[in-house]
Amino acid sequence: MSPRPDRSGGLNWHLRALARRGTLWRPFRDQLASFLARWQPLTRTLILVGPSAGWCLPPDFLTRFDRILAVDPDPWAKLFFRRIHPNARIGRWIKGDFFAVAPDLLAGEPDAAILFCNMLGQLRFAGRDAEEADRLIAGITPLLAGHPWASFHELLSGETDMTPSIMPLAGPPHHETLLKELGLSGEWLDHAAGHLLPKAMQRDIVPWRFAPGRLHLVEMGIGNAREPVTARPS
Ligand SMILES: C[S@@+](CC[C@H](N)C(=O)[O-])C[C@H]1O[C@@H](n2cnc3c(N)ncnc32)[C@H](O)[C@@H]1O
Repeated sequence: MSPRPDRSGGLNWHLRALARRGTLWRPFRDQLASFLARWQPLTRTLILVGPSAGWCLPPDFLTRFDRILAVDPDPWAKLFFRRIHPNARIGRWIKGDFFAVAPDLLAGEPDAAILFCNMLGQLRFAGRDAEEADRLIAGITPLLAGHPWASFHELLSGETDMTPSIMPLAGPPHHETLLKELGLSGEWLDHAAGHLLPKAMQRDIVPWRFAPGRLHLVEMGIGNAREPVTARPS
């Protein structure tokens, strides 16, 4: 089944992002900038997977790379990305499904670092059945063997006015424990991405005030231990 950009991208998404990126989403964007500043892959080439227009991506992070390749099926993404990030050196933009192009793309770019831009927590809601989404998530680590990679992705989302603090974790989150520790209750949608990062990797759980009354909990982590990671600011 092919991905449905209208479910996790599309014009509605861009209009919403335009309205919220400077206001409601500002704290989340700052946390993302801080996470990406700590990720220092030793390569000058970056592959962005599902960047959309880069509404949440920090310009300083993008300009660290000499060459950027992007993969996103959303027909609007490239146009808006170029407007928002005029200094990012985009070498190639593939309008398509990462999983369809990944084997050839990764083989042709053996030195590239890969950043998954908040798309791996949406596989189940973008036209794939649960079994296929789980299979793709389980295949990420072997697929990217030899590449430095990182991801930020939704773990859980739900209705609340509370905005908890960022929570560093030493290993994979246990959802019930996490919600309890963050002081959150009620019904939460599981984005089925809790087993994406290798077990031994540290990660941050970052609250994203997505809309008034709606909170997304986003996991940010590095998938490949080969690269140096600078310490978290205290
Ligand atoms: C939530 S948006 C990402 C927002 C982005 N982090 C930003 O700063 O604007 C998710 C993006 O993933 C893209 N996407 C969904 N499935 C994909 C796939 N299989 N391959 C590549 N991109 C995909 C969607 O088209 C959408 O643009």
